[in-house]
Amino acid sequence: MTGCIPMTSSETTIVSVENTPVSLPGVVPLAQQAVVSVVEQVRLARDTFRLRLDCADIARRAVPGQFFMIRSPDRTNPLLARPFALYDTFLNDAGDVAGIDVVYLVVGKMTRLMSTWTAGDRVEIWGPLGNGFPVPTAEHLLLVGGGIGQTPFLAVAREARRLRCYGEPVRSVADAPRTITFCYGVRSAAYLAGVDDFASTGIDIRLATDDGTRGHHGFVTDLVATALQSSHRPDAIYCCGPEPMMHAVAKQAGQHNVACWLSLETPMACGFGACFSCVTRVKQDDGEWDYRRVCVEGPIFPARQLALD
Ligand SMILES: Cc1cc2nc3c(=O)[nH]c(=O)nc-3n(C[C@H](O)[C@H](O)[C@H](O)COP(=O)(O)OP(=O)(O)OC[C@H]3O[C@@H](n4cnc5c(N)ncnc54)[C@H](O)[C@@H]3O)c2cc1C
Ligand code: FES
Repeated sequence: MTGCIPMTSSETTIVSVENTPVSLPGVVPLAQQAVVSVVEQVRLARDTFRLRLDCADIARRAVPGQFFMIRSPDRTNPLLARPFALYDTFLNDAGDVAGIDVVYLVVGKMTRLMSTWTAGDRVEIWGPLGNGFPVPTAEHLLLVGGGIGQTPFLAVAREARRLRCYGEPVRSVADAPRTITFCYGVRSAAYLAGVDDFASTGIDIRLATDDGTRGHHGFVTDLVATALQSSHRPDAIYCCGPEPMMHAVAKQAGQHNVACWLSLETPMACGFGACFSCVTRVKQDDGEWDYRRVCVEGPIFPARQLALD
């Protein structure tokens, strides 16, 4: 790995590809920028890939729900990096954190380019960015993933089951949830990605497909409704996916008075607070609305603070 130095909150420093330090405004105290190597690329489902990057220093600092900005250091088209959530860290033979996995769905220019990368290719990355999910304290934690919005939840599940530690310093999970349920919905079975990874954590997995090719025939919100109506209903929900689905889940959580956090997938240009391309309306403690940058104050917000109309 080359050109890896911390960005500080008072003076955010980012190292360019040529290793010339450039100061930028922003609040990303633990983030680093580097050009790193692809370790492997694995197809998980239709148009869906897991990209493994050799970036131990960045990986050690990441917590579930944080994200990374990724681009090619050798091309200007596409110029802007794109945000991708931490799927998980991976370990080397000695058991030390060696890098990160991201899982992505091919939708446009950058993700099409990413799908051509192979072992040894160079990738520019900066992160970890954003706030991450809160350390889980619920007795029954419900994870809700719609489409590629499932990506943050493997690390959440592994942390909540105490199978893997995250962050530097390592954040501890004092009151681990007794039950973790993962409701995962996609349009069709061919798009289900990483179900074996989730199954290996021992959590309760409930699948839904829009076309009925696997699991419940219908939307993931049907599974959420069932969970909320059960005798052992969840007392916290972490949710990520398409906006209409997140709004529906937030509404369901509100009706049952269950705390709910949403991970927003707002398009971003810089990822570290400088460009204001990612703002969203957030309700403050005094009830007034203000704008917040999703990249630095999110991407995870309590649903009750968001404008969900
Ligand atoms: C914090 C965060 C974490 C994310 N994590 C992941 C992840 O783990 N895996 C993953 O596959 N994707 C993730 N995304 C979304 C990912 O960043 C976009 O899919 C990516 O930027 C698309 O780039 P592209 O050049 O391939 O597509 P583009 O050419 O930029 O766009 C292609 C099409 O997708 C639409 N589009 C682009 N970005 C978004 C978006 N954020 N929301 C809705 N529509 C969009 C465009 O309007 C266009 O129609 C995340 C986004 C955020 C903000
Ligand atoms: S993406 Fe630039 S400020 Fe958020």
